[in-house]
Amino acid sequence: MRGLTRRLVRVVELIERKRDGGTLTTEEIDYLVQGYTKGDIPDYQLSAFLMAVVWRGMDAKETAALTASMVASGERLDLSRFGRVVDKHSTGGVGDKTTLVVAPLVAACGLPVAKMSGRGLGFSGGTLDKLESFAGYRVDLTTAEFLAQLERIGIVVTGQTKDLAPADGLLYALRDATGTVPAIPLIASSIMSKKIAAGAHAVVLDVKVGSGAFMKDLASARALARAMVAIGVAHGLAVTCELTDMDQPLGRAVGNALEVAEAIETLRGRGPADLVRLARLAGAEMLVRGRKARDARTALARIDRALADGSGLAKLRELVAAQGGDARAVDDPRHLPHAPLVERLVAPRTAFVGAIAADRVGQASVRLGAGRERKGDPIDLRTGVVLHAKVGDRVERGQPYAEVHVAGRPDDESAIDQIRAAFRWSARRVAPRRLILGRIASR
Ligand code: URA
Repeated sequence: MRGLTRRLVRVVELIERKRDGGTLTTEEIDYLVQGYTKGDIPDYQLSAFLMAVVWRGMDAKETAALTASMVASGERLDLSRFGRVVDKHSTGGVGDKTTLVVAPLVAACGLPVAKMSGRGLGFSGGTLDKLESFAGYRVDLTTAEFLAQLERIGIVVTGQTKDLAPADGLLYALRDATGTVPAIPLIASSIMSKKIAAGAHAVVLDVKVGSGAFMKDLASARALARAMVAIGVAHGLAVTCELTDMDQPLGRAVGNALEVAEAIETLRGRGPADLVRLARLAGAEMLVRGRKARDARTALARIDRALADGSGLAKLRELVAAQGGDARAVDDPRHLPHAPLVERLVAPRTAFVGAIAADRVGQASVRLGAGRERKGDPIDLRTGVVLHAKVGDRVERGQPYAEVHVAGRPDDESAIDQIRAAFRWSARRVAPRRLILGRIASR
């Protein structure tokens, strides 16, 4: 009992120091993280500490220590027998199905792709949910299955095993319940601890900026990117952060099976321009970081070849089959889930699309059933939105600008209204949005 009291008092001192703008040593941060993970430090104390971090921040050394401690809370995969392994991660957005395109393309170019993805939360979609649109697709591979599949076909996309950075899982759940998610050192260490534990040698990060992203403005996105690059460098990882627009949804489809269909079309060479551009950029950077191409030009040419010759699509088929999914859906979209009703939204007058609020489209798709408000909620893979027009496009009166795939839920009408309200129209020509907003990278 005396030991417990001493521990609680020591934690109070650390909370107070952070509250007052001080810094913690590496040992002190490790004490908090391991103590919490073991259940020795209660939720209320760690919540207070996290809130102090939200207000006072952490310097680079503290952030690196936090990351290292979260990595040390579980196992760290050693993938060196596969050569250089490059991971790809997006900080999350609306309609972001880039992984479904990039992972098979890069694997088709001979770079092993060992990806642990997450589920969607709030208006941000998740790769695992999307992949479950292939009936039977398993997202719960064991570490042994993960490694065996990587060896066999050079690609694996599954959920994170519980043994990797377990402290992050616990801390994230606490942050989610205590309003302490939006702090750059916490987000950066959370993302990077998982990448480091999963054994990557390099990581290509897509840091989304805009209404449909965590980071609403370029300055915060840059700060997050810098923090992640610094963590990577401190742990011997090469890191590239592309800063990209998330003020309108990416591509045209939002919603799980709809996004899978769009990713397949993209691998067939018929994708929307913004998704194709992002996939080529991320894929080429992965090849360069994985030392499969000597420069960006050569890498882009290889990605383009994998798009043109169908080898990227073939890799997706192989991936889906290997993880128990119905690979027939890759060739015939009738094998993907379909919503029973499609509502078309038509333009009341001829005008240019001035803006499409990504957050509103994302929230509407959650209401349609495509996303979840809380962890563990069920979702409907069939529902969502397909945008027929993006910012800058001219839509003629009476022409459809979006179609909404609905399953007959009570909130369908309000979701449809929200999608209508997400569009801003202009009588004057509007320039398309800039997609690539910057890049911050280690050497
Ligand atoms: N994604 C993560 O993995 N962690 C965060 O804290 C935020 C986004």
